[in-house]
Amino acid sequence: MISSSLQTTLKKAAGIIKKHDYARVISHYDADGITSAAIICTALIRIGIQFHSSIVSKLDRAFVQDLDEDLIIICDMGTAQKDLISEFLKDKDVIILDHHAAPMNSSPNDTAATSPLIINSHYFTQEGDDEITGEVCAAGISYLVARCLASSEGARNIDLAGLAIAGTLGDKLEITQGINKMILDEAIEAGVITIRTGLKLGEGTMRELLLLSTDPYTPFVGKEEWVDTFLDKAGIEGDKLLSNLEPEDEKRLITALLSQAKESEIELPEDALVGTTYNMNLEVVRNGLDFMRMIDACGRFGKAGIGVGLCMREETMIEDARTLYMKLQNKLVAELNRLEQTDGEGIKELPHILYFYVQQTGITGVLAGTLAEFIHTNKPLIVFNKKDGTGEHAVTKVSARCNKKLLIPSESGYGGIDLAKALEQAANGVGGMGGGHPVAAGASIPKGTEEQFIVSIDRIISEQRQKLA
Ligand code: C5P
Ligand code: ZN
Repeated sequence: MISSSLQTTLKKAAGIIKKHDYARVISHYDADGITSAAIICTALIRIGIQFHSSIVSKLDRAFVQDLDEDLIIICDMGTAQKDLISEFLKDKDVIILDHHAAPMNSSPNDTAATSPLIINSHYFTQEGDDEITGEVCAAGISYLVARCLASSEGARNIDLAGLAIAGTLGDKLEITQGINKMILDEAIEAGVITIRTGLKLGEGTMRELLLLSTDPYTPFVGKEEWVDTFLDKAGIEGDKLLSNLEPEDEKRLITALLSQAKESEIELPEDALVGTTYNMNLEVVRNGLDFMRMIDACGRFGKAGIGVGLCMREETMIEDARTLYMKLQNKLVAELNRLEQTDGEGIKELPHILYFYVQQTGITGVLAGTLAEFIHTNKPLIVFNKKDGTGEHAVTKVSARCNKKLLIPSESGYGGIDLAKALEQAANGVGGMGGGHPVAAGASIPKGTEEQFIVSIDRIISEQRQKLA
């Protein structure tokens, strides 16, 4: 299933790592990044390699310049900073485990190079092998490296597959094909994960889940006065745990929710609400969605250490992680309700995009994601987070999200959107930096350039949407 060239590269990475007795592990602060770091750090501990791990939101020049360990493993980032890494870390062993797109003007990846050695799923999915189609997130790649690092055939680090799947859920990648499916299958076979089909709402009482679920977004988010009537009508006890619902009750509830979403003009496709759910049999939080979201919330509130601890099966971290997750959901629900009650007040519209400003920290990206996926689905959404920074280096953080349907060229021949390219180009134009993925991208731009940036994004999206020849 894994192509021979990928297998060779994975072994090469493991060989480089094993030459050292100390590593610096640097990873991104989202669920994929945190699970990646935990996979690599656990695999290192098991073969006696010590480490210093840092979870960061970005890799900038100053940070890269200061790295002085002989072995540096960078997860869920690094492809875009390859030139910077080559410039400052040329005497080190650097391994990049990533799935972010390479910037448009970067030098091509030298697959024969030993440092930085980049294992990026975009490079190996271009090999034209059907078996390895589909994007693999950083946690998936980290897991493949961890398998090669295992000290013996008997201990193949397969128990870490739950973390790989949690990272994949965090980045919303397809698990039904290619390497992601291979990882899942071996996890199921080893008893690491159990799957079932049902509501993708996490675990909790039905009342609580409907009130707080923003992904999938249900029509009852934050609406205490509606939820009990709805549950009564559907014949479901609000205090019942989702995992204790009888199959026929769950079916009835799904039908009622889909019909209510339609009435409320929420774009809630059935496969966003119902599908495979993952039980992480070896993790301290068993429900896969809850586990991923708790890790994600830790990163968003600057407490990534709690997330890493959770991934390293520290039971003492559960309560704090759950509190952070609840804080995130409550903030999100409040903001979504505010937007709904004011009929989208504050959301501005240009011909090809929607945009608005938020003051709160931590929720920008998730808020944009929920709005783009379920509510404002026809144009990309750009959200500016204006923190109170001052001085000439003050930056505004930007998050952009769009509905998956906008990535696909339309039947009438219009081009698909790529937000990573759009944000990179527009940010470069105002002296900032940006990138990410076609469906979810971000940027940092100098304060004061927001209006110029937004006009530029609108133009770039219009160009991407132009009728293909
Ligand atoms: O910050 P946010 O969650 O909106 O970022 C979305 C995606 O864009 C992430 O994958 C992030 O790594 C990427 N990004 C980037 N360059 C930036 C900001 C974000 O590549 N300056
Ligand atoms: Zn990722």
